[in-house]
Amino acid sequence: MKMDEYRIGFVGFGHMMSLIFKAMDLARLIPHSRCLFIRRDPKKMFENEKEYKISSSSLSHLVKESRILFLGVRPDQMEGLLKELKSFDIQGKMIITIAAGIPLSFYEKILGKEVEVARVMPNVAVSVGEGMSVSAFSQSSSSEFRSVVQRIFSCMGLVQEVREEWMDVLCAMVGSGPGFVLRLMDGMARFGEKEGLSYSESLQMTAQVFSGAARLVMKGHLPKDLIHQIAVPQGTTEAGLNAMRDSKMVELFAEALQAAATRSRTLQK
Ligand SMILES: NC(=O)c1ccc[n+]([C@@H]2O[C@H](COP(=O)([O-])OP(=O)(O)OC[C@H]3O[C@@H](n4cnc5c(N)ncnc54)[C@H](OP(=O)(O)O)[C@@H]3O)[C@@H](O)[C@H]2O)c1
Repeated sequence: MKMDEYRIGFVGFGHMMSLIFKAMDLARLIPHSRCLFIRRDPKKMFENEKEYKISSSSLSHLVKESRILFLGVRPDQMEGLLKELKSFDIQGKMIITIAAGIPLSFYEKILGKEVEVARVMPNVAVSVGEGMSVSAFSQSSSSEFRSVVQRIFSCMGLVQEVREEWMDVLCAMVGSGPGFVLRLMDGMARFGEKEGLSYSESLQMTAQVFSGAARLVMKGHLPKDLIHQIAVPQGTTEAGLNAMRDSKMVELFAEALQAAATRSRTLQK
């Protein structure tokens, strides 16, 4: 089945889901006429209708009309939503959830084991077509469903299917990762500003440095080999790397990732 033959219902249309919708729209994946959405706040729903030119709907109508149900509520709102969904006929629906920390077994427990659920962890870079998304599927998921998820998320960056047990670690690396990288970028730009550059000029150069380093790695170079090339003995890079080693910066960065992964593990509790 071609992608534009499916109907999609977006349940929850906050920050992340609107980015995903915009990315799908940019890729012309599905006509607006085949999309419906719902959120709780009627004022924001009206504003979103005008901005994105898609129709809002009641949950019952959205479920009836849509083959794909895209769940974009927060983790603590998921249980209530699933209990509502269970009261409708959801047989044959493809459910895609982007909620952090909620295992597939939680969906199966409430909705039944036969339901097809994809647990996907995207990140904010989907909005510029540079997202990294990871997915895990419930046991009853068909190859058609896997292909749908692949087609949706590959239009906004890379997508990779993983074993579900990795999802908490990947929630930290992939979902929260941009937040950590952006904090580092902000720190580098502020250093430039402290030394007399304007913040915007400094940030622009910082962004190009991060992007260039990332591209080198994407081309297949290993960070340790590149570092070896850049850090000539007694040079400037070596001086900075020594300071990073002495301050245990890399270990502290790993602690931040660990904290995010641990939070993901406890979100459903
Ligand atoms: N932010 C990220 O970078 C990121 C990355 C990966 C994954 N995620 C996941 O994405 C999900 C959404 O995060 P977010 O940052 O986009 O949160 P958000 O902006 O608060 O969006 C949540 C949306 O869910 C709606 N909602 C809540 N309960 C509902 C219900 N019962 N029926 C219909 N709509 C309902 C809210 O509607 P109202 O606002 O109208 O009340 C809102 O539109 C989370 O589960 C998060 O773990 C986020």
